[in-house]
Amino acid sequence: MVAALLLAASCIAYAASNRDYSHMNKLVNTEGCKACHAGRGMSGGGMLKSGREKLCYGCHGINSTGRGRAASDIESVMQKSSRHPVEDTAYLHKRSEVLPAQSPMAQRHVACSDCHLSHVTSPGKAWNGLPGYRPSPSLGLGKAGRPAGTYMKEARFEYELCYRCHSDGADSGGGSGDVSLEMEPSNMSYHPVEIAGRNSRVPSLVQGLNETSVIKCGSCHGNSDPSGPAGPHGSDYAPLLIAEYRTADGPESAISYTLCYICHDRNSILGDESFRSHRNHVALQNLSCKNCHNAHGSSSNRHLIEFDSMGVSNASDGAGPLYLLGAPGTPKCFLNCHGADHNSSDINGNPWPW
Ligand code: HEC
Ligand code: HEC
Ligand code: HEC
Ligand code: HEC
Ligand code: HEC
Ligand code: HEC
Ligand code: HEC
Repeated sequence: MVAALLLAASCIAYAASNRDYSHMNKLVNTEGCKACHAGRGMSGGGMLKSGREKLCYGCHGINSTGRGRAASDIESVMQKSSRHPVEDTAYLHKRSEVLPAQSPMAQRHVACSDCHLSHVTSPGKAWNGLPGYRPSPSLGLGKAGRPAGTYMKEARFEYELCYRCHSDGADSGGGSGDVSLEMEPSNMSYHPVEIAGRNSRVPSLVQGLNETSVIKCGSCHGNSDPSGPAGPHGSDYAPLLIAEYRTADGPESAISYTLCYICHDRNSILGDESFRSHRNHVALQNLSCKNCHNAHGSSSNRHLIEFDSMGVSNASDGAGPLYLLGAPGTPKCFLNCHGADHNSSDINGNPWPW
């Protein structure tokens, strides 16, 4: 006799045979509905045993054993220095809320439930069942000031989940800004998250990747401990990066830019296989990639070139900061970087502005 409980709203069965959803699998979560709900009536969705992340930490916590099968310890990961601020802001989450936020008065937050729908989390798709959003930057705001992008009942790609909070939401200005603007496929260049990239010659790509590859936000953002639970919960490297990416200048090493070297062969970069002056700038002048590249993309330049205003300014004759494409690997730059002057006398001696 199988005691299979049906989840009325969605017709999902709690049963040993349910391998699709861990929490609904009797072999994985031996306690069934009781693991998370208390009391008998469950109408309205309240009746949770405890609130928010504490409910989850009951099994996904530092001292929990998973009550059934061992569950991954997310609580420890959430103590790392760079993290989604779940423990500080989850109380602001409302079940009925629509994201991206419609009003600048909305209180910016993130909760486990913003990224996981407890009944249908799946071993292959942790964020299964959640809505998604794709901004349309060219459309600006739509009806009644509401972000005008496409709202989806279910996200198909991970970035559609992230864009609910990291694109044109009315509350994003106070947060970390609109990432979608940097990833836009109409940009001059971008890392290939939404669609394949624009550059057909990227010689540094490591085996397994090529110019038609598509990567995820999670390819760069996530747990800095590769043997710990996956996901953008917490990391030793800000902002929530899976590996170190030094943005301050200093000696180059395999460690300082590990994040980039996961996908871009260090020997190729320092061997000047693309930009003929990588080695000089990165290894000899000790300059971080960040002086020249934006890790997401650039609306105005090819090759993710976006000079960092912290170190780069106009040349002595006022030119730039400007990046002009030349033959591959031999661009012209007009700027002043940490006192080194690349001025417009390089271009036929004409004074700036040309
Ligand atoms: C892993 C924890 C967990 C388990 C196990 C679980 N629930 Fe839930 N349930 C939740 C959470 C959390 C909510 C609130 C919705 C949210 O924020 O995701 C909820 C909401 C509900 C709701 C409100 C309507 C809805 O769908 O949102 C009902 C009804 C419900 N659960 C029934 C059940 C039943 C029946 C079972 C057993 C078959 C069950 N739950 C097992 C965590 C769980
Ligand atoms: C009764 C213990 C228990 C509780 C309570 C619980 N989980 Fe789980 N959860 C598990 C187990 C066991 C697994 C499977 C092993 C693993 O991936 O950690 C799991 C897996 C997951 C996964 C991975 C995807 C999957 O379905 O395999 C996610 C995401 C997840 N849980 C989120 C949550 C969230 C969010 C909460 C709180 C609302 C929660 N869990 C509460 C036991 C629990
Ligand atoms: C429900 C809203 C929400 C969702 C969904 C969300 N985030 Fe966040 N995220 C936040 C909040 C709030 C912060 C804290 C900083 C801020 O306000 O921007 C944050 C911070 C971050 C940071 C660190 C930024 C910094 O400046 O330290 C990264 C990186 C990040 N999120 C990536 C992601 C990725 C990748 C996804 C999708 C897998 C995602 N986020 C989904 C709300 C969200
Ligand atoms: C998960 C893999 C991955 C990581 C990590 C990664 N990249 Fe890339 N990168 C790619 C792929 C794939 C392409 C090819 C896109 C194309 O063909 O346009 C690419 C292309 C580029 C380009 C050329 C883009 C163009 O349009 O010319 C630059 C510059 C670049 N990456 C810099 C970096 C830097 C700097 C880092 C570290 C912050 C980094 N990448 C980390 C996968 C990655
Ligand atoms: C190729 C690696 C890579 C990919 C892919 C990537 N990021 Fe980032 N992201 C970074 C790096 C590196 C930084 C830090 C940049 C810096 O400080 O110059 C960053 C910064 C951020 C920040 C902090 C604010 C900001 O813009 O600097 C947020 C939020 C963020 N990323 C979210 C996302 C989201 C959402 C996605 C997917 C749509 C994504 N990232 C894809 C590498 C990546
Ligand atoms: C900003 C979105 C976001 C938030 C907030 C978030 N998660 Fe996740 N989580 C993810 C994503 C995305 C993955 C899938 C990563 C992958 O498979 O690459 C994941 C994976 C997981 C897993 C599976 C880990 C593994 O190794 O398979 C568990 C368990 C989990 N999350 C629990 C939680 C709990 C508990 C909380 C709250 C304390 C939480 N998550 C908050 C996005 C989030
Ligand atoms: C002084 C500015 C500068 C710095 C610093 C710099 N780059 Fe570049 N990089 C460029 C330019 C310019 C190009 C494009 C050359 C062209 O115009 O054809 C480029 C192209 C690339 C490409 C695309 C082609 C390829 O090699 O596959 C990658 C990847 C890349 N850089 C990665 C990095 C990484 C990783 C770092 C840090 C370790 C870094 N760059 C530091 C200026 C710089």
